[in-house]
Amino acid sequence: MADEYVKQRIMELREMMKAPADDILSDQLKGLEQPSLERKLGGSKIIYLTKNFENVIKNNDFLNLINARTSKRKYSEEALTQYELAFLLWSTQGIKSIVGKERKATFRTVPSAGARHPFETYLFINKVIGLKPGLYHYMAIEHQLEYLGPIENQVEQVSEAFGGQKFFANAPVGFVWSVIPYRTEWRYSTHAHKYALIDVGHVCENLYLACEAIGCGACAIGAYNQPLADKLLGFDASPSADKEAEFVVYAAAVGKLE
Ligand SMILES: Cc1cc2nc3c(=O)[nH]c(=O)nc-3n(C[C@H](O)[C@H](O)[C@H](O)COP(=O)(O)O)c2cc1C
Repeated sequence: MADEYVKQRIMELREMMKAPADDILSDQLKGLEQPSLERKLGGSKIIYLTKNFENVIKNNDFLNLINARTSKRKYSEEALTQYELAFLLWSTQGIKSIVGKERKATFRTVPSAGARHPFETYLFINKVIGLKPGLYHYMAIEHQLEYLGPIENQVEQVSEAFGGQKFFANAPVGFVWSVIPYRTEWRYSTHAHKYALIDVGHVCENLYLACEAIGCGACAIGAYNQPLADKLLGFDASPSADKEAEFVVYAAAVGKLE
């Protein structure tokens, strides 16, 4: 790509990293309806998840967790239990309370600018006791998992879409976070995008620490092919300013440690 183009893009993207200086009339200030807090996908099977994590935590020493955290890419053959998976979903997007009558906000285990929480969590499951391989979606409000269906040649397709990273495709669980930008844009308009990218970092960091607490390892995945990953999850990858637009923004591999 031409040097001039790259320089121009770098300038634009650096501006996006700065604190916003312009005053924007957001859709919230215009009185427009708030977007929904969660996507409803009508999965074919519902998996009820526990909030009792007493028996899954193996390491409760906070300093030890912080020091032990590294990106771990090698996992044992052992499957995760549904209790462990429930703990990881709770730690990353669990909803502790919903406030407000008409204009609702969720308070979760992770922070988010304006409590907008613009993410949905999808799972590529390979090895979780009692769950068949395939694609799942976390319904954070209900604290339930829904089964969306099998993925043909799952390991091959996931590997191709996620930068040929076989350890991610073969991991017992692949977390994928999509963003629905309008959830944050509704309040922050053109200031939303910086916030959403910061927000998703909190989500993945909680996953790292929660994994350490239960004898699992995690590795963040930022290298993926946007159109292929979006296609795998059924999203339209074309540029869009639609309120419904949703696309993959981050992922992470998870498995038990050897
Ligand atoms: C935003 C982000 C994207 C990343 N993407 C990948 C990735 O695609 N593949 C991978 O193997 N590691 C990925 N990592 C992990 C980094 O390589 C890792 O955090 C870094 O080497 C530091 O090692 P540590 O996490 O063990 O401290 C990513 C980390 C972050 C924060």
